[in-house]
Amino acid sequence: MSKRISVEIAEPFLPLVNQSIRVKFYHGGRGGGKSYAFADALLMLGLKSKLFIACLREIQDTIKDSVHKLLSDRISVYGLEEYEIKDSEIVNKINGTRFIFKGLRDQDPQKIKSLEGVDIAWIEEAQTITKKSWDILNPTIRKDGSEVWISMNREEENDPLWVALAANPDERTLVVKVNYYDNPFCPDELKLQAEKCKEQDYDDYLHIWEGEPVQQGDKKLISASAVKRALSNQIDMPNNSQPLIVGVDPARFGDDATAICFRRGRQAYRIKTYRKQSVVDVANIVTAIILEYKPARVNLDVGGLGAGLYDILEDRGHGDVIRAVNFASEAQDKEKYGNRRAEMWGRVNEWLNADLPVSIVDPDNVILTDLTAPEKKYDRLQRLLLEKKEDIKKRIGRSTDVGDALALTFAEAFYPSSIDLPTQEIWVDDNIYL
Ligand SMILES: Nc1ncnc2c1ncn2[C@@H]1O[C@H](COP(=O)(O)OP(=O)(O)OP(=O)(O)O)[C@@H](O)[C@H]1O
Ligand SMILES: [Mg+2]
Repeated sequence: MSKRISVEIAEPFLPLVNQSIRVKFYHGGRGGGKSYAFADALLMLGLKSKLFIACLREIQDTIKDSVHKLLSDRISVYGLEEYEIKDSEIVNKINGTRFIFKGLRDQDPQKIKSLEGVDIAWIEEAQTITKKSWDILNPTIRKDGSEVWISMNREEENDPLWVALAANPDERTLVVKVNYYDNPFCPDELKLQAEKCKEQDYDDYLHIWEGEPVQQGDKKLISASAVKRALSNQIDMPNNSQPLIVGVDPARFGDDATAICFRRGRQAYRIKTYRKQSVVDVANIVTAIILEYKPARVNLDVGGLGAGLYDILEDRGHGDVIRAVNFASEAQDKEKYGNRRAEMWGRVNEWLNADLPVSIVDPDNVILTDLTAPEKKYDRLQRLLLEKKEDIKKRIGRSTDVGDALALTFAEAFYPSSIDLPTQEIWVDDNIYL
C-alpha cells in the first residue's frame, strides 16, 4: 500500500504523470525545473505501481555522474521511506519499483538488452546523445506502453535526438519547452544570473537561459548581432540635417507601457517608456516633445488608447505633424508585406543591415530583447508577416513596446539617405526626408 504524499508538480510537467504517450520531450535553458520535475514525477509513479525505470545519459563513468543523487535527495525531502537507496540502484521495498543508472556510450549491445523490460527510460542531458546510441536504445525500449522521457538543453541546431524526435514531432511525441521563468521554484539567484547574462551577452543568454541552439536558426526577423552592432556603434550627436521622426506606441492594456523613440536617419535614440499614464498624460508628454524638438513627424499607433491620443493632439493643433498608423492595416508595399506592422518591422531590419552603420542608444537595454523577439512568417503570396503580438507576449512575458516605437519611425517609408534605391521616391513623404 502506498501512503499519501503531496508532491507539487509544476504545470508544464503535468503530462509526465497524467498523459501516456511514447515520447515526452522537454527542452529549454538552465533552471527550467526539468531535472527536479522528472525526478519527482518518477518517484511518485514508482510509488503507485511497480515500474522498471532506467536513468540514462550518454556518458556515465561513475554513479556520481547520474541522477542517483538527485533522486536520493528528493526521496529524503519527501521522506519516502518506501525507497531503499543502494549504491547503484534505488528500489521500492514495498512494490518492487526499481531505478537503474546507465551510460549509453560504450554499452555493448548485449548489456543493453537488460533494458528490454523498462517501463520508463529517462534520458538526461539528451543533447549529448549520439545518433548511434539512440538507434540502439529506441528498439530496446520495447515493452508495450513503455515511455521515453527526454530532458535536453539544446546545444546545436541539429542535436541528433532533437532532429530524430522533436524537430518534426509525430503524434506519439509531446514536445514542451520550459525555461527558468516557467519554473515556479526557480531560485532568485538563478533569475538574477539570467537577467545579468541577458544584459551582458544576449546571444549567450538565448542559449544558456532560453535553451536556443547555439547557431540560431533564421526564424527570427531581426538577428541579435545586427541589433548589438547598432547598440555598439557610437554616433554621439544626432545628425540634425536629418528630419526627426518620433514613434509613439501608447499602452494598450494596464500592463503594457507607452514607449517613445526618436530617430534621425541612421540614429535611433531617446528611447523611453512610461507606465500607468492616462491618455491625457501621454498627450502632454507628446505635446512637450513636439514643442521642444520640433519633429517632422510623430507617428502614433492608433490601436487601443492611441485613437484618443490622436484626437487630443489634433485638437491641440498638431495635426500637421502627427500621423495615425494602424498596425493591422494594409502595407504600403503590398507585394512585399502582409500588413503595416510587418512592413515597419521589415524596414527596421533593412535599416539595421544597411551598408552604412546605424546606431541605437538605449541605456535601459530593452530594445535588444524587443527587436529580436518576433518570428517571421510568410503568407501564401510570400509576403512577410510577423508572429502575433499575443504569442510574443506569451513567449517573452511582455509586449515589444519599445521595438514597436522604433518600428513606428518607419511608418512612412524613409531610409537613410545614404541608401540609394531606385524606388526611394515611393517611400518619401512630401520629399522632406531627402
Ligand atoms: N519541485 C521543486 N521544488 C523545489 N525546488 C525546485 C523544484 N523544481 C525545481 N526547483 C529549483 O529550480 C532549480 C532548477 O531546476 P532544475 O535543476 O530541475 O532545472 P533544469 O531544467 O534541469 O535546468 P539545468 O539545465 O539547470 O539542470 C533547482 O536547482 C531547484 O532549486
Ligand atoms: Mg537539469
